[in-house]
Amino acid sequence: MELIEGIRSRRAVRKYAARPVDRATIDGLIQAAVLAPSATNAQPWAFGVVEGPGRLRDLSTRAKALLLERMSDFPHRQRYKDVLADPAFNIFYDAPALVIVYARSLTPYAVGDCSMAAYTLMLAAHGQGLATCWIGFAEPLLQLPEVKAEFGVAAELRVVAPLVLGYPAEAVEPTPRNPPELLFWMRG
Ligand SMILES: Cc1cc2nc3c(=O)[nH]c(=O)nc-3n(C[C@H](O)[C@H](O)[C@H](O)COP(=O)(O)O)c2cc1C
Repeated sequence: MELIEGIRSRRAVRKYAARPVDRATIDGLIQAAVLAPSATNAQPWAFGVVEGPGRLRDLSTRAKALLLERMSDFPHRQRYKDVLADPAFNIFYDAPALVIVYARSLTPYAVGDCSMAAYTLMLAAHGQGLATCWIGFAEPLLQLPEVKAEFGVAAELRVVAPLVLGYPAEAVEPTPRNPPELLFWMRG
């Protein structure tokens, strides 16, 4: 696949086949993620993987409860209230795996660097016929020190990108984009 074609055709996928992704494939995607650029080549990222539908469903239930509990702090999330209250809604869309990109440091560029690593992983996955979706809904839960402790992750690491990963169950239509807002193009 041409790189530009991969960029154009990648989609956030919300329906996954039950087929698991093997460990070598996930490992290969993490190896691709670290090829992302970073400020001063600091490479401030670290990764965690959660596999298994049962464990992910449990995390989803806890993430939804936390989001509902904190709803008043995040008024923009009000429109998701009903879906988050639905016991059948899995924020991880029954994907077989979740890859979490953490920032090791909170230097000014660390979140940007880790986001680039996440997007590199997303594109690499797409190039191999896999699908991803960045799950912002998972962030408040994964950021809790006690949840980091469950995974053996130091409290000072910051969750940047929870990415579900799996084989897509269906093709997804392109999501429209606004035309780029070109603010200036100075010459001379
Ligand atoms: C920071 C971030 C957080 C996101 N959180 C969620 C989420 O919690 N649940 C979800 O279904 N999609 C989530 N998405 C996916 C976006 O909704 C999706 O990328 C966007 O609608 C554009 O669609 P596309 O990726 O198919 O082009 C998130 C994407 C980003 C970049």
